Amino acid sequence: MKVEPFALERFFARHEFSARHVLCASDCETFSLGELLAMDPGAAEAFSALRLGYTETAGNPDLRLEIASLYEGISADDILVFAGAEEAIFVFMNAVLKAGDHLIVQTPCYQSLSAVAAAAGCRVTRWETSVGQGWVLDADWLDGQVTDSTRAVVVNFPHNPSGYLLQADRFERITAIARRSGLFLFSDEVYRFLEYKTENRLPAACEIYENGVSLGVMSKAFGLAGLRLGWVACRNHEVLRAMAELKDYTTICTAAPSEFLSLLALRHRKKILERNLAIIGSNLEYLDAFFETQRRFFTWQRPQAGPVAFPAVTFAGNSDDFCAELMQTYGVLLLPGRLFAAEPRHFRIGFGRRDFRQGLDKISEYMKKYI
Ligand SMILES: Cc1ncc(COP(=O)(O)O)c(C=O)c1O
Repeated sequence: MKVEPFALERFFARHEFSARHVLCASDCETFSLGELLAMDPGAAEAFSALRLGYTETAGNPDLRLEIASLYEGISADDILVFAGAEEAIFVFMNAVLKAGDHLIVQTPCYQSLSAVAAAAGCRVTRWETSVGQGWVLDADWLDGQVTDSTRAVVVNFPHNPSGYLLQADRFERITAIARRSGLFLFSDEVYRFLEYKTENRLPAACEIYENGVSLGVMSKAFGLAGLRLGWVACRNHEVLRAMAELKDYTTICTAAPSEFLSLLALRHRKKILERNLAIIGSNLEYLDAFFETQRRFFTWQRPQAGPVAFPAVTFAGNSDDFCAELMQTYGVLLLPGRLFAAEPRHFRIGFGRRDFRQGLDKISEYMKKYI
């Protein structure tokens, strides 16, 4: 299998740890180990006594129970744990799909959602969305694309990079099309729980559809990317069995310390999510004010959920030079839109971290040259 280089991850590998201000991250502010352990009396002692042998391949039973409680009508048996969302994507595409299968993928997207299946010999149809159409997915279009060889539809809400959240009735329509044609609905929900208005939260695909595969992770809403712990929730146990069998060839099981800390964090998720939503909310206000003063130079569509947005420059044909100059002069890292194979004027900005304002102030300084 030869998969094309992951443009966004290669870009991060080059710049993430040398940039002074990482202003395009998609994860929320993290925690130190000490902060996390302090959330539960006795956790530090229990962590220190943790045995470091292999763990259960499906994931620690208590952790799977806690993950299941994030959903309605889902039990621990419906959960399979992975080393990050990325492993789960790789394993689903290779274990459940086969060469020649057709899948339809919402784009722009996190590259692995389309690239892994393409490398496995699947035929991938891009379900294009754009800022001009408000990132809306057209279910009628989807209906027209389904053929006898179509096996899966891949969606991502809240959406990376736009922060777009589909309306529930549209999501139900997509689910109905998948059900009628017997398709898997692979639903990347890694930014779930970061809706600015809770009432806008979509149901998880696994809740409303027996062949829905919901992807979750500790990295984004919970700010714990370093744990490398993700999962899928799915009521179709054939899917879970096939994925578990391939996982035996990737990681076998996840790291015991990560499982321990994920369980701890999920038990305290209310506090963690409240903190992260507060950081996002105050950074977004600051960002709104920035774009208000810079209206001549950018187009800005306020996201509805998550820690990222996808604005565009209007003073150049693409965002490449803008991003490159900002990195060179101020050490501010933004993500050029072309890394999403999307409209080149766009760039991804991330506002889930506490040091966001300092980075944005540098962009304000840089923009003075245009005034
Ligand atoms: C939409 C989406 N899915 C999956 C992932 C992978 O998550 P992780 O790095 O936690 O495995 C990312 C990471 O940026 C993402 O944005």
